[in-house]
Amino acid sequence: MIVLFTHQKGGVGKSTIAINFAYQAQKKYPELVLLDLDSQNSVLLFNQLRVIDDRFVIKCVKESDIEFDSFMNKYAKNKTNLLIIDSGGYDSNINRAALLKADLIITPVGISQIEIFGLQKFNYILKDASEALGVTIKTNILINNVDSRSKNKLKDLAEYINDKSTHFNLLDTIIYTRADYKNSYGDGLTVKEFNKKGAASLEIKQLSKEILKLINN
Ligand SMILES: Nc1ncnc2c1ncn2[C@@H]1O[C@H](COP(=O)(O)OP(=O)(O)OP(=O)(O)O)[C@@H](O)[C@H]1O
Ligand SMILES: [Mg+2]
Repeated sequence: MIVLFTHQKGGVGKSTIAINFAYQAQKKYPELVLLDLDSQNSVLLFNQLRVIDDRFVIKCVKESDIEFDSFMNKYAKNKTNLLIIDSGGYDSNINRAALLKADLIITPVGISQIEIFGLQKFNYILKDASEALGVTIKTNILINNVDSRSKNKLKDLAEYINDKSTHFNLLDTIIYTRADYKNSYGDGLTVKEFNKKGAASLEIKQLSKEILKLINN
């Protein structure tokens, strides 16, 4: 199966969530592979930090390591193995090709007005790509980086997402703004390894459960 983390807007948490999900899902899919399409190579750099500390690493490949179409075909709709893609924060041919092949698409978003503008643009990209390819591409919106001051805006965002239900589905899990996400990455650790009983670790566990349920349906 292919789980793609994507949004043309940068800095929404694609890499952070993809990494934490991958290390959590590794229990169920020991052979899983990460494909790093992020121009900042956030996943590859994370793995390098782990190598320095002699920690186990999940296999990570970049676009130049693979023949994209045949690699994607190996994982698409294959229930026994998992490919997790961390997409770049921009619209491109490769990111659109990944949209088409993915079994499940996840789009992290924050909850400010600027994030709603970002989603409007992404909705247009999904509509355009769907029309060009003759399919309806749908992504699962993951509300990320919610802080206590912005909780009241959750309703506006949920309404906007439900209104655009042709291309958007809202996930149940919500990820809050937590220092563990920032601090763990710098140490080459997942939030679970950084602070096992912390709220971030529990959120990732809940999110992983939700994603695995969706791909196994
Ligand atoms: N829930 C959260 N709580 C606190 N910080 C967060 C959270 N989610 C993401 N961040 C921080 O936000 C920043 C951007 O996250 P990240 O690099 O994962 O985004 P991205 O969508 O992959 O960006 P790009 O499009 O540039 O690849 C990072 O510093 C990360 O630690
Ligand atoms: Mg990234």
